[in-house]
Amino acid sequence: MPVVNSWNEWDTLREVVVGSATGACFEPTEPGNRPQVRGPGDLPFPTGPKSDEAVHRADEQLEGLAAVLAGQGVTVRRPEPYDFSRSLRTPGFEVENQYCAVCPRDVMITLGNEILEATMSRRARYFEYEPYRKLVYGYWEADQRVGWTVAPKPTMADSMYRQDFWEWPLEERHARMHDSEFCVTQDEVVFDAADMSRFGRDILVQESMTTNRAGIRWLKRTLEPKGFRVHPVHFPLDYFPSHIDCTFVPLRPGLILTNPDRPIRDAERRMFTENDWKLVDAPEPVLTNDDMPPYCQSSKWLSMNVLSVSPDTVICEEQEKPLQDLMYSLGFEVLTVPFRDVFEYGGSLHCATWDIRRDGTREDYFP
Ligand code: ARG
Repeated sequence: MPVVNSWNEWDTLREVVVGSATGACFEPTEPGNRPQVRGPGDLPFPTGPKSDEAVHRADEQLEGLAAVLAGQGVTVRRPEPYDFSRSLRTPGFEVENQYCAVCPRDVMITLGNEILEATMSRRARYFEYEPYRKLVYGYWEADQRVGWTVAPKPTMADSMYRQDFWEWPLEERHARMHDSEFCVTQDEVVFDAADMSRFGRDILVQESMTTNRAGIRWLKRTLEPKGFRVHPVHFPLDYFPSHIDCTFVPLRPGLILTNPDRPIRDAERRMFTENDWKLVDAPEPVLTNDDMPPYCQSSKWLSMNVLSVSPDTVICEEQEKPLQDLMYSLGFEVLTVPFRDVFEYGGSLHCATWDIRRDGTREDYFP
């Protein structure tokens, strides 16, 4: 098997990259992102490096995940240290600091025997592929069958963003929910890797704040000649969509964990129901929106951001008992790790990983 080989989200995992909080900074306010402190009051969002203590707590939980994976016989790799406190100045923009290497899923994706680096959609994440480049070179040098594609970098200049998006009142958001217009315009190719979900030949791409229609067109034109089929998907009740893995999470052939607050468009659901896939709603999360750490920008639905170790074993967050019970009832073995201290870095178990090698090959689940 090629050293890079992963066609879906569930086949038996052999090698994975687990993110690291070392060097992490707060995400800066920029045209594509308006981070807010959770809870009462209107506190300004902090800037610059995260505290040593916050980094230490997150790194401990990331190491805990790495240890559980190693215990399952999975080879675990980690990103290179990177100084995210450096500011950036490109021809298109300036930004005061960068973000972190906690969520490799957001920027890197394995599509079969090929590694693809996403364009990204935010200035502070423009160079986020860098902590992974040494690994990419390693795989690329080790095996001639490994492909490596880098998507065209957008300017991320002011003109790439629609600033009024952030001011739309909720009624306007509701009215516009079918247009899929978000904070990024349609003029340049923009996508984050985490807006994709892999099902063998078929790849879903969520249109979102972090992936536009030009990005989906680029993916279609790049991947379809290689034998993939690219399907745009939409979850119109998510007014701030970004990254598909807290919304629509395949667990094994025929089974998808769905978000009860964010149903998929009817026309897009058919592809699954007509092929006898079951869509099962995740239970209400134990950690509510009020329990999310103050600097966390994600929703309570991080609960459903599970990582599959195989088609019958999933890793869940330790506190999410109702979800674990659902997994047992669906016939899964469940492993748990504490992960709440990672949430303020943009994600949970699936986000904080990047599959390098899983068993299996390219199947057609939707013939
Ligand atoms: N926007 C999602 C939510 O709040 C979080 C997605 C996290 N995923 C990721 N790959 N970073 O529900």
